[in-house]
Amino acid sequence: MDRTQLMTSISADWESFSKLEIAEKLPYFTRNEKIYDCLFAQQLDRGRLEHLFRTADALRKMTKTREGMNIANSLLSHKRAMLYFVQPSTRTFLSFLNACHILGIKTSEIRDTTTSSEVKGETPEDAVRTFSSYVDMIIMRHPAPGFVEKTAWLMNRTDRPVPIINGGSGKDQHPTQALLDAYTLYKSFDGEIDGKTIAMVGDLKRGRTVRSLSYLMKNYKGVKLAFVSPKQFRMENDILEFLRRHNIPFIETEDFGSVMGEADAIYMTRIQDEHDKAGESKAVDYSPFYFKKEHLGAIKKDCVILHPLPRRFEIDPAVDEDRRAIYWRQERNGMWVRAALMAHIFGVDSAIAHE
Ligand code: CP
Repeated sequence: MDRTQLMTSISADWESFSKLEIAEKLPYFTRNEKIYDCLFAQQLDRGRLEHLFRTADALRKMTKTREGMNIANSLLSHKRAMLYFVQPSTRTFLSFLNACHILGIKTSEIRDTTTSSEVKGETPEDAVRTFSSYVDMIIMRHPAPGFVEKTAWLMNRTDRPVPIINGGSGKDQHPTQALLDAYTLYKSFDGEIDGKTIAMVGDLKRGRTVRSLSYLMKNYKGVKLAFVSPKQFRMENDILEFLRRHNIPFIETEDFGSVMGEADAIYMTRIQDEHDKAGESKAVDYSPFYFKKEHLGAIKKDCVILHPLPRRFEIDPAVDEDRRAIYWRQERNGMWVRAALMAHIFGVDSAIAHE
């Protein structure tokens, strides 16, 4: 079924659309076999990932000179983007903002609904539709799961659709974080993620970054996952089912020490207190899931330590000095690969490759 048929058949109401399997929804968010709305990590297959990684590398190289930066700045100077971030963010917001500037995209932003007409009772859906009247792309972070997807569904039904990028929605998905995490692994392992053992540590139940990164692992052969968490914050069953379906081996453990020496990458996460309505975080001893300086002697000499950041206590700042701690590089990678994604959506990725 092509996109037009899809629009007229199944997408008439959000309730029915939202219940479809992801694979059934994807054509609705795709144009000319390219990503149009970037909403789910499942949109990023291996070919797309490697294309985006190469584009990010080419853009970095190209912008090392003033002349190259001027060319990059002109690629999308006719476009405008809205950053609608109504949930706190430092890295995702700033990396998208600066990625827009690298490509010459002009930006506007709302970071607090109290400064928009939502305080007068305008629905979030109408607010976003209003932004779309003024811009060519909307990049969003929103606390409600599914809201970013609903916005993209809604926009695709209007006579002026604009691409929507998910910068984090509820506890659900953070696909561009997964994209930058995979880009960081790709660069750390000289392009060879196949066969690696990756430990994800911390609050896996409520961390959207580990959920999205787990989805991407289906693109790599022979990857093994170790989920290390307190029993209260184990990875959710939908992800475990996904891994079983795709024959991706995983273990679950509360014993961080038992997997440290085997891992090629350790992906640390913080406890997600902001989702804590029932006070469940307070009852958990999180300290066995900290990475401390003394652990540096227990991990492989070429193991890399990642963290989507921000961190609180889970990585000792003394670890930062070790060359295997790559989380500062990881956040910078986000700006380049997000620029590559927007270049892809607007069709200037081939111009970057050419330059
Ligand atoms: N990793 C991440 O999403 O960071 P921010 O919340 O600061 O955007």
